[in-house]
Amino acid sequence: MSEIQIAPSVLSADFSAMGEEIISLEQSGADLLHCDVMDGVFVPNITFGIKMVADMYKRTSLPLDCHLMIVEPQKYVAEFAKAGATYITVHYEACRENLKEILRLIRSCGCKAGAVINPDTPTSVLQEVLPDCDMVLLMSVFPGFGGQKYIQSVTEKIKEVKRMVEQSGLPIDIEVDGGITLDNVAEVKAAGANIIVAGSTVFSAENRGKVIAELRSKGL
Ligand code: DX5
Ligand code: ZN
Repeated sequence: MSEIQIAPSVLSADFSAMGEEIISLEQSGADLLHCDVMDGVFVPNITFGIKMVADMYKRTSLPLDCHLMIVEPQKYVAEFAKAGATYITVHYEACRENLKEILRLIRSCGCKAGAVINPDTPTSVLQEVLPDCDMVLLMSVFPGFGGQKYIQSVTEKIKEVKRMVEQSGLPIDIEVDGGITLDNVAEVKAAGANIIVAGSTVFSAENRGKVIAELRSKGL
């Protein structure tokens, strides 16, 4: 679980050229493709949905990491699974008392299940759902937009989740999403993250391969 994986967020891609963008990310050494699904209700932005994920799946063998920023995600889990999602992550803030059940639904559809918490949600809400998680995703910005600044207080939360996962003895990935750059990635990894999401850092780079390799190796 400690091997570092880089998950570029296609939120920063040119949506009108998604096929080429995916090929470029694959050739640049991405480990996963992070797909930000937004509904304009759970977050104040709209991106794409099931059809985009299904079309991406036809273009790549990379695992698709589907981050659902939508209300009532349980309604769409089976369709995202059918579309080719490898991971489906759902927000505690969207699921509340149904989180455990929805994580189990994700697994029953053959996908890896992840629970996501916003920067202002305590890590304690994760404790009872850890056995139902393949991944925990910690937001280090408030979800909705790429290019925001990393919220420093999240580093401590990564350490807390790392301790919780270690104590559980379960093989759970720790992913961090939002504002990760070459300047703070070492800190994020040192705190315990093993999957690093990067949108603007990858897409603003002249050489995507170089920046993905640097994100992976920094601080090791
Ligand atoms: C924000 C999304 C992120 C975003 C990250 O709501 O969940 O995945 O694309 O973008 P950067 O790396 O630019 O903060
Ligand atoms: Zn995301």
